[in-house]
Amino acid sequence: MPDTLTPDSLNKIAYETFQQGKQAFGFAHKTLSTQFLNTFAETKREEPNPPDPKMLQLLQSRIKDLLKADWEDAEKNVYPKQALFANRWDDFFRYYPELWLDLPKIWERATNKRHQEFSDDIDTTGYPAYYVQNFHHQTDGYFSKISADMYDLQVEVLFNGTAAPMRRRILTPLKQHLMSMPVDTGSSPQPRKILDIACGTGNSLEWINRAMPEVSLYGVDLSPAYVRKANENLADIKGTLPAQLVQANAEALPFVDEFFEATTSTFLFHELPADARQNVINEAFRVTKPGGIFVICDSVQKMDTPEFEPLMENFPAMFHEPYYRHYIGDDLVARLETAGFKNVKTFNYFMSKYWVAVK
Ligand SMILES: C[S@@+](CC[C@H](N)C(=O)[O-])C[C@H]1O[C@@H](n2cnc3c(N)ncnc32)[C@H](O)[C@@H]1O
Repeated sequence: MPDTLTPDSLNKIAYETFQQGKQAFGFAHKTLSTQFLNTFAETKREEPNPPDPKMLQLLQSRIKDLLKADWEDAEKNVYPKQALFANRWDDFFRYYPELWLDLPKIWERATNKRHQEFSDDIDTTGYPAYYVQNFHHQTDGYFSKISADMYDLQVEVLFNGTAAPMRRRILTPLKQHLMSMPVDTGSSPQPRKILDIACGTGNSLEWINRAMPEVSLYGVDLSPAYVRKANENLADIKGTLPAQLVQANAEALPFVDEFFEATTSTFLFHELPADARQNVINEAFRVTKPGGIFVICDSVQKMDTPEFEPLMENFPAMFHEPYYRHYIGDDLVARLETAGFKNVKTFNYFMSKYWVAVK
């Protein structure tokens, strides 16, 4: 607690309290849902050992570092402070009961190891086989409206409210790099363009817009339902143009060469097999302008924090992430360099890792 209370220190306390509330909500939901299923579910599932006190302490200290960086970046005006309190409340209240109703289905699917189970009206023809999965045991995988509607809430619970602070860590390198690039002084100067690869429900694009409202936003995702949801979420953003979102495979981006000043991607690569990871990186390189930047945020890897290895080993089994085990040992720096990127830098926050690469 600071010695004197200024409006700013009160803001900081409010932000910390807001995040603690999210953490408490995540823990409470997980504890209650496990108790509920252990009492009522027909099939019992073996639970992994809970993290030991030393691990819990380490996790808490990493969350503290993440939130400190989040607040400091807001203080440096990377994004507005008041935006730190933004949340998709409408969806949260509307879909929270659905989360409970969905729980027994997820449990049954997880217990019986059914990983490719979709509603009858879903047509998975034409999608790559690696994508036709119930990632995180999610009902309908990425293929339905209800999956897209519940996604943010599920991620919120999974990461105890830290998903947004983790995503926001892409913004400082992105903004700094864009500001250092020469300005278009032609007769009809074009706004800068950023493509978010696997944009999901549009979270990262929303934050890029808050940090740089003057930039033109583009997004691509393989899920029609998620692209639709992102369109809804981004309908009211401020900026030069509405966000332009397309449904496509990131292994074959539907854009001409060297179109974007920057490309980004959050939480995609751990859900791709190795060859698809390389294909997406090659495509990001192709569509980025020379001098442009590619910023990735994804899960922490084994070489970063060996102490987290037990958690990383549990994750794919608990949440059905078939490519995660390979991902945590994969050398993405080498992949980025193979594609042609230079000056690749990496850093970590909490359970996430970042790659910043220049073309
Ligand atoms: C874990 S979600 C991350 C979504 C979003 N970036 C976020 O930060 O919340 C993974 C996303 O990757 C998309 N995806 C997976 N494989 C893809 C591919 N080959 N091409 C395009 N999108 C893909 C999925 O549809 C899903 O929306």
